[in-house]
Amino acid sequence: MKSMRKEYRDGGEISISDPQVPLDLLIQWLADAKEVGVSEVNAMSLATVDLQGKPRNRMVLLKHLEDEEIGFFTNIESDKADEISSCSSVAATIWWPKMERQVRIEGVASPMNRDMVEEYHQSRPRKSRIAARVSDQSRPLESREELMHRFEEEEARFEGEDVPLPDHWGGFLIAINRVEYWSGRPSRMHERVVLTKEGGLWSQRRLYP
Ligand SMILES: Cc1cc2nc3c(=O)[nH]c(=O)nc-3n(C[C@H](O)[C@H](O)[C@H](O)COP(=O)(O)O)c2cc1C
Repeated sequence: MKSMRKEYRDGGEISISDPQVPLDLLIQWLADAKEVGVSEVNAMSLATVDLQGKPRNRMVLLKHLEDEEIGFFTNIESDKADEISSCSSVAATIWWPKMERQVRIEGVASPMNRDMVEEYHQSRPRKSRIAARVSDQSRPLESREELMHRFEEEEARFEGEDVPLPDHWGGFLIAINRVEYWSGRPSRMHERVVLTKEGGLWSQRRLYP
């Protein structure tokens, strides 16, 4: 591991033209990553804090981005949902190795309204909707066979019918209050620009890498 070394070439200069539109550059960077063929461009790690103050982290897909808000979908009886209900402060990180770019987002999560969840559920492939119904996410599972059996049963139950949104499936919106853009530059002279919201206004500053 110690001998693994990568020289960053150029994630590009960071220039924020209007800090009052803090996610503008994220939209641009997502489009850039997509253009060069990065898979799962919208995958981000999501950190929460549990009741004991212990941080926990997992990947989710960024599925909503609007103004100063991002969102993702999940099981609302999962560990992450429990953690958000006891501490709504969350942090997310997106890293595109191919682009040599990282985005860190911090904010406050709240449950997404059911209309938004329903709309997304309807847009998903049938098998994903069935999978959402049968997974007691984060709970112990006896065997793989048990899960497959549940899937097949549910598939048969709704054959030829619409697969309804289960009560346990939902999403969270994150009202953002800090965004940091990081770009890999040669000789470890990376760039960091952080945008923070204070008193209703966004300001930007650079940080040492
Ligand atoms: C690339 C990737 C994307 C994922 N996207 C989601 C997602 O959008 N929603 C979700 O609930 N789980 C997603 N997962 C699974 C989660 O990482 C995690 O295993 C699951 O949500 C349970 O987490 P929890 O027990 O901390 O609640 C994804 C996993 C990977 C590797």
